[in-house]
Amino acid sequence: MAAHSLTTIKTLAGMRCFLELAASSSVGLVPTMGALHVGHLSLIERARQANQIVIVSIFVNPLQFSLHEDLAQYPRQFEQDQLLCQQAGVDAIFAPTVDILFPDGTEQGTRVVPPSAMIQVLCGRSRLGHFEGVATIVARLLHLVQPQRAYFGQKDAQQLAILRRMVTDLNFPVQIVACPIVREASGLAYSSRNQYLSDRQRQQATRLNQSLQAAQQAFQQGDRLARSLIDSVEKILSQDPDLSPEYLELVDPLTLNPLETIDQVGILAIAVRLGATRLIDNTLLDARKPILAIDGPAGAGKSTVTRICAQALGLLYLDTGAMYRAVTWLVQQSGISLQDRVAIAELVSQSQIQLIPDPQVGLRVRIDGQDVTQTIRSLEVTANVSEIAAQPAVRQALVQQQQTYGRQGGVAMEGRDIGTNVFPEAGLKIFLTASVQERAQRRQQQLQQQGIPEVDLAQIARDIGERDYRDSHRIHAPLRQAEDAIAIDTDKLTIKEVAQQIINLYRSRFPTSSRNQSES
Ligand code: PAF
Repeated sequence: MAAHSLTTIKTLAGMRCFLELAASSSVGLVPTMGALHVGHLSLIERARQANQIVIVSIFVNPLQFSLHEDLAQYPRQFEQDQLLCQQAGVDAIFAPTVDILFPDGTEQGTRVVPPSAMIQVLCGRSRLGHFEGVATIVARLLHLVQPQRAYFGQKDAQQLAILRRMVTDLNFPVQIVACPIVREASGLAYSSRNQYLSDRQRQQATRLNQSLQAAQQAFQQGDRLARSLIDSVEKILSQDPDLSPEYLELVDPLTLNPLETIDQVGILAIAVRLGATRLIDNTLLDARKPILAIDGPAGAGKSTVTRICAQALGLLYLDTGAMYRAVTWLVQQSGISLQDRVAIAELVSQSQIQLIPDPQVGLRVRIDGQDVTQTIRSLEVTANVSEIAAQPAVRQALVQQQQTYGRQGGVAMEGRDIGTNVFPEAGLKIFLTASVQERAQRRQQQLQQQGIPEVDLAQIARDIGERDYRDSHRIHAPLRQAEDAIAIDTDKLTIKEVAQQIINLYRSRFPTSSRNQSES
């Protein structure tokens, strides 16, 4: 097998040229300071799933180290990093020197200052200037590389929240993707700074995760109070006098505001000194119902299956088709021409769709307060919906609305890139497949039921094959199976059987979240 070709780029001009050559490809950026470990590799893997080109930046950023910190000792192992990137299928490493990024010195130049409330908590208290340094360098990297997506670990929860806030406030056209903490078998979270620990300290450091697990357990049993959750962490850490906690805090994962109780979700974050090393770790305490994401090729039965699962599990079915129809209706209603993309972009960005479960109609659809459940099924809407759905601004606005729904948890959604792009943090990801032959037969039956005269099976199969190819190769929202998705081949199964398999998977993975739902 030919080795994957990895380009190493050191200058801004080289990076620009590389991007020009890759012009029509989607790009995922994984910013790092090198000393790559398994945690970084998981970010790279996630980036590979959703993007055609993956770029890893390696830059030990002086701006984010204060004078007494470990800038000089920070591990640098470029050749090993290169090898790891090569093996992980990275397309380019961007590894500029300090002189390239700061030709006038690191003290000069424009800085990005995060909101003070976000830097006066957690690590910000002891690491003055750190997050300003992080935001500044990440802003530069994002501007230079212009990726569609950028990947960060959940381990640096404060960094993640600050960068999310930065891209929202400054309107960067990038999606920040948060990736779960990766741990060694001992429970110790991977970190480049673990290299500083002796064997004994590595053993001692496992108490961080143990203490967080104790809080997680208490939370699962219904404890929602910051004080008692923090106490359960403290109790375990205090058993080893070498571990000296710098902070133990419960905060909102997006705003970083301190929480006294957890309503829906909180981050319990800790920083501990062990000898000369400072270690951080955290756990997400999440009372929301997990998201169900179902992807797969056209004709695999996704929408019916998702509807059945949502109902049985008490999840909200995020009906994208209905959302596009609602926008189409609104465009027609507003008298805007379907070709006036700017006016449509403005309209959709200011409109709000509500999906409300309703026992009578399944799902009630409102847009800007108006009930359009029936009207969006009109022939006029049907005739125009695909033209509206093809407009990138419409898709973007609706993905944003879907993700806002997702933040409350408890949604089920189907599509081509739900598990990789829309909800990469979904609790259960399913990839439904069916052979082209089987899908062609299902389609032929559907056409017959609609009274359409016999269409040649071989022709339908060819069309489906071509559609699969187009769907997996499109730049926007390509069909992808997430690495952590469970594939179900539906060839020999009825829709009901497929749905029941998914319902069982969800219930066994999340016994507490599905406890009160009626059996289907
Ligand atoms: O998380 C890191 O490694 C760094 O803070 C980052 C995001 C690469 C910025 O230098």
